[in-house]
Amino acid sequence: MKHEIIEKNIGLMIILIVLTISGGFLAEVVPLFFQKSVNEPIEGLEPLNALELEGRDIYIREGCHVCHTQQIRPFRSETERYGHYSVAGEFVYDRPFLWGSKRTGPDLARVGGRYSDAWQRQHLFNPRSVVPESNMPAFPWLFENRVDHESIDKRMKTLQTLGVPYTDDQIAGASEQIKGKFEIEALVAYLQQLGTVISEKR
Ligand code: HEC
Repeated sequence: MKHEIIEKNIGLMIILIVLTISGGFLAEVVPLFFQKSVNEPIEGLEPLNALELEGRDIYIREGCHVCHTQQIRPFRSETERYGHYSVAGEFVYDRPFLWGSKRTGPDLARVGGRYSDAWQRQHLFNPRSVVPESNMPAFPWLFENRVDHESIDKRMKTLQTLGVPYTDDQIAGASEQIKGKFEIEALVAYLQQLGTVISEKR
C-alpha cells in the first residue's frame, strides 16, 4: 500500500504535511491580504480616542472578553437580538481584536448606546442592582482607580506604528486629555462607542 510508505517514513510524512498546510494557507489565508472588504475600514470608522483606548485596555485587563464576544454572526437569531451582523471592516484598528469565543454574557459588539451611561456605571458597580439574576462579577475598584495617563501616548504610538491613523497631535495631547479621570469613565466611554458606526446608519 502506498500509504504505508508514508506512514513508515517520517521524513516524507513531514514534507507532505508541510506541503498540505502551505496549500491550505495559500488558498485560504493569502487571498485575504488582498481583499478590500477585510482590509479597509468601513466608512466613518475612526480610531478610538485616548479615553476610549484606555477603556479598551481596562476591558482587556478585567477579562471582559472572556465572558463577552464582540462578534455578531449573520444569523437571524443573532441579528434580531444584537443588531446588524459584524463586518470585518469594523475591526481594522482593533489590535488585538476582541471577537472572543465564549458567551457567558451577551455579545457586546453593538452595545454602544443601548443603555445610558448611568446604567452602565450602576451595572459595573453591582450587576445585581439592575439585573437581579445576573452572575456577572462587580467591578467596584474602577470607581476608585485613576486611569494610567502616563503611558497612553506610548500605547497610541505603538498602534500608529502598526497602521492605526493617529495624528502626532492626537498622541501629544492624549495624556493631558485623560489625566485624573476614573477608570470607570474610560470603560463606559469605550462601551458606548462599540458598534455604533454601523448602527447609526440604520
Ligand atoms: C463571569 C462572566 C462575566 C464577566 C467577566 C463579565 N461579564 Fe458582563 N455580563 C455577564 C452576564 C452573565 C451578563 C448578563 C446579565 C447582566 O446583564 O448582568 C452580562 C451583561 C453585561 C452587559 C449588558 C449587555 C446587554 O446587552 O444587556 C454589559 C454591558 C457587560 N456585561 C459588560 C461587561 C464588562 C465591561 C465587563 C468587564 C469589566 C464584563 N461585562 C465582565 C457576564 C460577565
